[in-house]
Amino acid sequence: MRPVVGVAYQGAGGASSGPERGTPLPIETETADDACEVEALFDLCFAPGREALSSYRLRDGVLPVGALCLVLRDEPDPAMTAGGWPAARWTDGTAAPEATGRGARPGQARGPLGGAIRFWAVRIGPAPALLLGPIAIHPTRQGEGLGAALIREGLARAAAAGHSRVMLIGDAPYYARFGFSRLAGVTMPPPTNPDRVLGRALAPGAWAGIAGPVTRDLAAPANGPISCPCKAPPP
Ligand SMILES: CC(C)(COP(=O)(O)OP(=O)(O)OC[C@H]1O[C@@H](n2cnc3c(N)ncnc32)[C@H](O)[C@@H]1OP(=O)(O)O)[C@@H](O)C(=O)NCCC(=O)NCCS
Repeated sequence: MRPVVGVAYQGAGGASSGPERGTPLPIETETADDACEVEALFDLCFAPGREALSSYRLRDGVLPVGALCLVLRDEPDPAMTAGGWPAARWTDGTAAPEATGRGARPGQARGPLGGAIRFWAVRIGPAPALLLGPIAIHPTRQGEGLGAALIREGLARAAAAGHSRVMLIGDAPYYARFGFSRLAGVTMPPPTNPDRVLGRALAPGAWAGIAGPVTRDLAAPANGPISCPCKAPPP
C-alpha cells in the first residue's frame, strides 16, 4: 500500500475557507498504476490539444518529479473491495461461466480519481525551478477545496524537499491565494500571455534576479514513477 501523504477535506467550502471541515480524503503519491487515469482526467478537464501548449515542450522527454505528483481519490465502493468484482450472474441467479474464478482486478480497491497534480523540473538560465502543473479536479468535484489541498500539499512537499522556487502558467486570480504572482522577466515562448507566467518563492528572495527563458531541465533526475502506455509515442 502506498503512503498517504496528506488529507483534503470534502465539502470544505472552497479554497478560501480552509481545509478544517468536511470529510477527509487521502492525498497520495501518484504511482504508475494511476498514470492512465490521471492522463484521462487531464484530457477531460482541459481543452483538446492541451499537449500542443508551449508549457508541454518543457515536459518533452523529462519525467515529472515523482515525489511531488499527487492524486486524490474518493473512498472505494465497498461492493468492489469486499470480495472482488461482483460475480456476473444469469437471471436465475447461477454464476455466468465467464465469471467463474474471476479474481480481483488490479486497482479495484482504489476509489474514483478526484484530482491530480504534477510538478516538473525546469531551468531559468542556470537557476532550477519547479513547474507546477498540470493540476485538475474532476468536474463533479470542483469548488470543494480539493485543488487548493493538492496545491498546498505539493508546495509543502516541495519546500520540505529543498526546492526554492515554483512557477506555473495559469490564472492569477486563482493562484494568488497560494502566494503566486507575475514573474517579470521570466519568459515563455509565444503565444503565452506574460500575465499568466506566475511564480512563488519557497525560500526568501528565491526569485530575486531570476530572469530569462524557461527551458527543460534535462539534467533533472529521472525519478518520476509515471508511465502511461496510452500516451506512449508509436515505436
Ligand atoms: C482550477 C482547478 C484546479 C481548481 O480546483 P478546485 O478544487 O475546483 O478549486 P478550489 O475548490 O480549491 O477553489 C475554488 C475557488 O477557486 C476559484 N477558481 C477556480 N478556478 C479559477 C480560475 N480559473 N480563476 C479564478 N478563480 C478560480 C473558484 O471560483 C472558487 O473561489 P471561492 O473560493 O472564492 O469560492 C479546477 O477547477 C480544475 O481542474 N479546472 C480545470 C482544469 C484547470 O483549469 N486547471 C488549472 C490550469 S492553470
